[in-house]
Amino acid sequence: MVMMSRRNFLDVAGAAALAGLATRRVSAASSERVRHALIGTGGRGRAHAQHFSSFDDCEIVAVCDVDPQRRNIFAERLPNSEGVVVHEDYRRVLDDPDIDTVSIATPDHWHTIIAVAALNAGKHVYVEKPGSHNIREARLLAKGAASGKCVQFGAQGRSSNSFREAVAFMRDGGLGKIRMAKAINHQHRKPIGREPDTDPPEGVNYDLWLGPAPRRSFSQNRWHYNWHWFWDYGNGDIANDGIHQIDQARWGLSVGLPNAVVASGSQLYYDDDHETPDTQTVVYEYDDCQLLYEMRLWTDYKLEGHDNGVIFYGDKGRMEFGRGGATAIFIDGEEKFFGHDSDVASHIRNFLDCAKADTPEALQGCIAEGSTSAMLCHLGNIATRVGRKLHIDPKTGDCKSDAEAAAMYAREYREGYELPELA
Ligand SMILES: NC(=O)c1ccc[n+]([C@@H]2O[C@H](COP(=O)([O-])OP(=O)(O)OC[C@H]3O[C@@H](n4cnc5c(N)ncnc54)[C@H](O)[C@@H]3O)[C@@H](O)[C@H]2O)c1
Repeated sequence: MVMMSRRNFLDVAGAAALAGLATRRVSAASSERVRHALIGTGGRGRAHAQHFSSFDDCEIVAVCDVDPQRRNIFAERLPNSEGVVVHEDYRRVLDDPDIDTVSIATPDHWHTIIAVAALNAGKHVYVEKPGSHNIREARLLAKGAASGKCVQFGAQGRSSNSFREAVAFMRDGGLGKIRMAKAINHQHRKPIGREPDTDPPEGVNYDLWLGPAPRRSFSQNRWHYNWHWFWDYGNGDIANDGIHQIDQARWGLSVGLPNAVVASGSQLYYDDDHETPDTQTVVYEYDDCQLLYEMRLWTDYKLEGHDNGVIFYGDKGRMEFGRGGATAIFIDGEEKFFGHDSDVASHIRNFLDCAKADTPEALQGCIAEGSTSAMLCHLGNIATRVGRKLHIDPKTGDCKSDAEAAAMYAREYREGYELPELA
């Protein structure tokens, strides 16, 4: 444990990325301050720092990362923290009875393990999407909804007022019968090339970074951020960017788990270390509609006007969710714009309000819903990898008729890093 002296984050941070820290938002109930800890100090951890510290009723009191360079620089830059405690091991964060809330922005293979341990330690939890690395974990984390603590799922789209109004409009029949939604993930990601195995950077606790994953030597390509593209740690882009669109599509369609999943995907474009697909198409079949996921990671142009977006197709018109907000476009060409608002700050505000009031039922990113969306991503990957249609029990998500697929619902956990049970 290292006590960091107080320094102004803005003195040393990239000013553009952290500009939001300059403005502290005043909350309605600011008398009680939430004592918050950040676990994982990469790109997303920085966004968490920016938003959590922008509220005057939230104080970041601890940060944790297995990479000393990242955690120390990060802690030095935090504002208003007289003595931020810096940890290598998340278990020391959870040991601190004075910490009220934690946010988890580690790689996917750590999400559920840390989230469940945090709930067992009595903390409210903001866990980044996908919240799970496999279906067994998604089911376990969903049970956190009944823990009495708040578990906010970090797909922030559900806290956008414009999306919320647009979903209400669709539920009221504004688009007529909606029989399909398309979740679009159409962008150009840089290839990662090929990197040799090396020693890990000095001081890094690489064993703790690997956690439940099999012991394997270090490579820059399986490390910060690029872990997304390796099955032992990530789930490919369907559970990275795609989960935002899949979650919104499912929300707008008002559907849960599907009856069947048909998928195809592989590396059709890149010739590099990637394991996960760069091209993937998944169809989720429901009783009266389909949810289609289309992903191409090598396109510098948009698909139906969107790089990351959702289109709901109704018999009176369509609804488009995208970076510009939500717009309904009716058959006669008339348009109804629902607005465009920042969703991350609202999502974190909603989490803090619920944690302060002990009202998990008021969370906008309910973990049971989030885990269902994560299960769709995991099912899409399993169907892609086994290469055949999966018939799913929509009540449980089970796929009993396909033993190979069912075996991919869980993983082996390395000794010392087993999946905990919820207390
Ligand atoms: N909601 C969103 O819009 C959004 C956007 C970006 C990323 N994310 C999510 O945030 C998460 C982090 O993404 P990132 O881009 O910051 O990744 P990253 O690899 O850059 O950062 C992850 C950090 O976690 C640390 N870490 C790994 N294991 C740890 C452990 N056991 N304890 C403490 N720290 C540990 C790593 O050392 C690293 O610094 C991912 O799950 C990603 O899907 C969400």
